[in-house]
Amino acid sequence: MNMTNTITDDLRSLGDRVQKLTFSDRADPAFDFQKVCVRPYLAKGETRWQLEQFRGAQVFHRNLDFPALLQWVESTGCVQFRQLLLTAAGAEIQYTMRAGKIKRKARETGRPAKAPQAHDRQKQYLLREGENIPALVDLGVFTKDFRIVRSKYDKYKQINRFVELIDDAFRESDKTELTILDFGCGKSYLTFILYYYFTVLRGVKATVLGFDLKEDVVAHCNEVAGRYGYDGLRFFVNDVTTDRLFEGKVDMVVTLHACDTATDYALLHAIRHRVPQVFSVPCCQHEINAQIRPGGDFDLLLRHGLLQERFSALLTDAVRAEVLRLCGYEVDVIEFVDFEHSPKNLMLRCRLKTPKTPDLSAVEALLQKYGVRQTLVEEVGKLS
Ligand SMILES: C[S@@+](CC[C@H](N)C(=O)[O-])C[C@H]1O[C@@H](n2cnc3c(N)ncnc32)[C@H](O)[C@@H]1O
Repeated sequence: MNMTNTITDDLRSLGDRVQKLTFSDRADPAFDFQKVCVRPYLAKGETRWQLEQFRGAQVFHRNLDFPALLQWVESTGCVQFRQLLLTAAGAEIQYTMRAGKIKRKARETGRPAKAPQAHDRQKQYLLREGENIPALVDLGVFTKDFRIVRSKYDKYKQINRFVELIDDAFRESDKTELTILDFGCGKSYLTFILYYYFTVLRGVKATVLGFDLKEDVVAHCNEVAGRYGYDGLRFFVNDVTTDRLFEGKVDMVVTLHACDTATDYALLHAIRHRVPQVFSVPCCQHEINAQIRPGGDFDLLLRHGLLQERFSALLTDAVRAEVLRLCGYEVDVIEFVDFEHSPKNLMLRCRLKTPKTPDLSAVEALLQKYGVRQTLVEEVGKLS
């Protein structure tokens, strides 16, 4: 089993019982801190997590919410340290991390729960195995007794993480109504879950619209939505690259692996309609790969098909992120799940700050060097 999953799964399942994490035995002596202790604390009724990072006689503090803590554990805690002691009410788990492998030793203790143990609101919102979400059974992600179907585990991880990131963005929001568009929704696991998350778990009146080319899939999704009385969840057969889609006010655009330029048209829709939030996980970036030729500073990367493909994908997403930035979005490019759950694991997480008319000249000049045209750049160029 994956090393970090073992720990983050324990953290999730222990939830409020976790009292302290102690990371020690630094793997790389050059790493900034010799030891890190993490403890939960309450802020405005919410459980947050404080990192105490020890360097010599100094202590540096950092406060994180639960998803950020999990990310830190995965990217730093489990990488930079070889020992972790997890102390929880009633239990203690010792992890030893070596050469990508983990040893886990749990023992029961009589340690009582500590007050105040505020309920972790974030955790309530997440889709836990065993949770009664019948639509996920119909869609084939959960078994009838709400266990994850083995072959759907990676997809489950993806949608769970997607919703966690959205939860981060909307936790402080007092919106009572939201409209969300999902471009290239396919079997619509994410679309259903977003609807469930906002309407059932957050009590928001959500309208969630999914667009896809496939008639049979769209019909099935509408049928399942109808079966559960999900009135605000609707699916449409559309080619998002050519069709005119929903023109009303939109609060969020999402894409999860929408093929090739379908992602560009989703981003274009967001830019045109000044959509405040965009969560986009691109996929199969063929457009640049099909046209690219030497002429820029990185011609070396075009000598091998594999490198060219990866370079083209990175160039595509870098250009998309830049266009969004120039249009006034704050853009984070993040790995939204581990590579093992999807090699297409890069997400553009975007929040509109101040809409701007973009100056695309630098991006256009870069693309010109490689002899390529890029849909988002061209289409946004036509707007101004
Ligand atoms: C890889 S699937 C992802 C589906 C879904 N978002 C998920 O993550 O499970 C990509 C989907 O994009 C849809 N798609 C591709 N090009 C499209 C287009 N031009 N317009 C609408 N949908 C498109 C495909 O039909 C397919 O269902």
